[in-house]
Amino acid sequence: MDASPFTVHFEALRAHAARLADTPLRKLAATPDRATKLALRVGPLYANFARQRYDDAAIDTLFALADTAQFPERVIDLFEGKRVNPTEDRAALHVALRSALSDTPVAVEARKEAEAALVRMRRLVGALQDTPITDIVSIGIGGSDLGPRLVVDALSPPTPGRFRVHFLSNVDGAAAQRVLAGLDPKRTAAIMVSKTFTTQETLLNGEIVREWLGNDTHLLAVTANVARAAEFGIPADRILPMWDWVGGRYSLWSAVGFPIALALGMQAFEQLLAGAGEMDEHVLRTAPRENLAYWHALTAVWNHNALGYASQGVFPYDDRLKLLPNHLQQLVMESLGKSVRLDGTPVGERTVPVWWGGAGTDVQHSFFQALHQGTDIVPGDFVGVVEADHPHRENHRALFANLLAQTEAFANGAGNDDPHRRYAGNRPSTVFLLDALTPRSLGALIALYEHSVYLQSVAWGINAFDQFGVELGKQVANKLLPAMRGQAAEIADPVTQALLREILRER
Ligand code: F6P
Repeated sequence: MDASPFTVHFEALRAHAARLADTPLRKLAATPDRATKLALRVGPLYANFARQRYDDAAIDTLFALADTAQFPERVIDLFEGKRVNPTEDRAALHVALRSALSDTPVAVEARKEAEAALVRMRRLVGALQDTPITDIVSIGIGGSDLGPRLVVDALSPPTPGRFRVHFLSNVDGAAAQRVLAGLDPKRTAAIMVSKTFTTQETLLNGEIVREWLGNDTHLLAVTANVARAAEFGIPADRILPMWDWVGGRYSLWSAVGFPIALALGMQAFEQLLAGAGEMDEHVLRTAPRENLAYWHALTAVWNHNALGYASQGVFPYDDRLKLLPNHLQQLVMESLGKSVRLDGTPVGERTVPVWWGGAGTDVQHSFFQALHQGTDIVPGDFVGVVEADHPHRENHRALFANLLAQTEAFANGAGNDDPHRRYAGNRPSTVFLLDALTPRSLGALIALYEHSVYLQSVAWGINAFDQFGVELGKQVANKLLPAMRGQAAEIADPVTQALLREILRER
């Protein structure tokens, strides 16, 4: 692999990791003032990095990497609408959906289109409110599903609002059957959310729902492919736009967020955008050492490339955020799961770790044993929400006692003469605290992760905005579909042949 100008920094980072190998995290974290010095606040979001296994010298090297990789310049490129996705010859202007921070013609034009779409969205929400519709089925998958699903689940009040929103993503017919069971077609509207309008899952589920509705006046779409949606039978006045300059996993801020606006109201959707916009402004305008996205991205690089940790956990200590790991998994792993640099040469460093997680305290009773005493260390992002929106105060106290206890126990460990009862500690974590769970704070948190992902891609020199890796499986599935229908198909792979025989045999 060719060395990049960043290689020297990565090697220096590994030397720091070796130097710090015998320095316990509890000792690093006890450095005077560190617990407050390695903390940052952006609006409603506080983050503490004191329990990461770096010291000042290692941090200096991380920021030297950010400097060589030109983090500030690359962030400006993003906001200005430069072609940061060169393999598809596109900008990635999701920031224009929520903030107006650049005056380049392309950014201004994108912002104008985003605002026009918001006006149409507001009108459609109002129009649906004036109908007997009570339930909405949002049909989409991947980026056309995970972000809206997370936000709706996180912010829905305990009793449903004007509409109950249901999500249908999986091509498994059982998913459609379950979602539609108990719904009344006369009181249900469906939205097909698909940037390309070519996604197999969404088209098949769309057909099921269209037939079930019996009358396609209750069918709407969000897409960049108006022609295909029209062919499907959805007229232009019921189609909200998408654009090639917004990637699927960055699209919840666009009309892809229509289900959010229906579930929570247009005002909440706009507050979500405002929270993300606040984070955009912070990331664009704040100096590296005070920049939360820089810290988060550099910490990820440190854990993966210097300390060699192969996975990263995300543990919301708030039941309403239980879908956060799912959304981040797509955001991070579809963006950073690459092996070549922008110029096509092999990437010099290991890229994306495995991102996974789940909500505390449930996870404490499933896989936390492995995190405390297993041989692999998994750094964790812990997310807590300080203000509870429920009256069960003792539960809230217990929830936070657990969050604090886990991060402390991971870091400090505990000695014991019995090796089975010993905790090695040295397990790093970052703690995020949201003042309260609101559209604004959630918008800021998600936008922070988006910026961090982009900066990690900059550090590795890869493209965060394409996803060719998912294409091969789709192509092979298309070739196999006729065989599944019992039609003639040329199948060369002997294992696939054997499996097909088993699946299709008479029972
Ligand atoms: O999984 C691949 C992918 O292309 C994602 O990037 C995208 O969010 C998802 O499929 C859905 O695509 P579409 O919105 O075009 O239906």
